[in-house]
Amino acid sequence: MKHKHFNIDEIKRAINKSVLCWLATFSKDNIPNVSPKEVFTYFEDDQIIIANIASPQSVSNIQENNQVCVSFIDILIQKGFQIKGQAEIIDAVHPDYSGMESTLLKITGGKYPFKTITSIKIEKVKPIIAPSYFLFPEITEKEQIENAKKTYGLN
Ligand SMILES: Cc1cc2nc3c(=O)[nH]c(=O)nc-3n(C[C@H](O)[C@H](O)[C@H](O)COP(=O)(O)O)c2cc1C
Repeated sequence: MKHKHFNIDEIKRAINKSVLCWLATFSKDNIPNVSPKEVFTYFEDDQIIIANIASPQSVSNIQENNQVCVSFIDILIQKGFQIKGQAEIIDAVHPDYSGMESTLLKITGGKYPFKTITSIKIEKVKPIIAPSYFLFPEITEKEQIENAKKTYGLN
């Protein structure tokens, strides 16, 4: 599959370095809803998948309106992506369920039961980058990591 607008390998790398993502959905009366999800990864070369463990509002919103946005960053390097696309709630009878489930089970080791899985077809991709990178162009990723560690009290 061709990706004119994004490099899937960069997205995969960023996902592997992000501890969680934030998923934005819309309720049927158009109220935005955002919540964090830790059990997420990519699937094949065009989807992001998220385990639905305790996300009733996100799931029912997607059933009404499948347009979603998901953001994730590496909190130390302070770069990541904002991705928009159509979501689908995948249940156990869907042909892709077992492949997606086994991919997500690598993250949880089976500790959390999944009710369903949200699959997001990657359609629009925008890199997210901390403003310090362009405000202080001489900053290196190494210095950025040191600064982030200080900010988050990780030293
Ligand atoms: C760090 C963190 C990681 C989480 N990861 C997930 C997850 O992977 N899947 C999930 O369904 N809920 C996860 N949750 C729980 C949901 O964010 C939480 O239940 C939220 O209220 C769901 O709201 P929603 O129904 O509006 O999506 C996580 C919560 C936290 C704090």
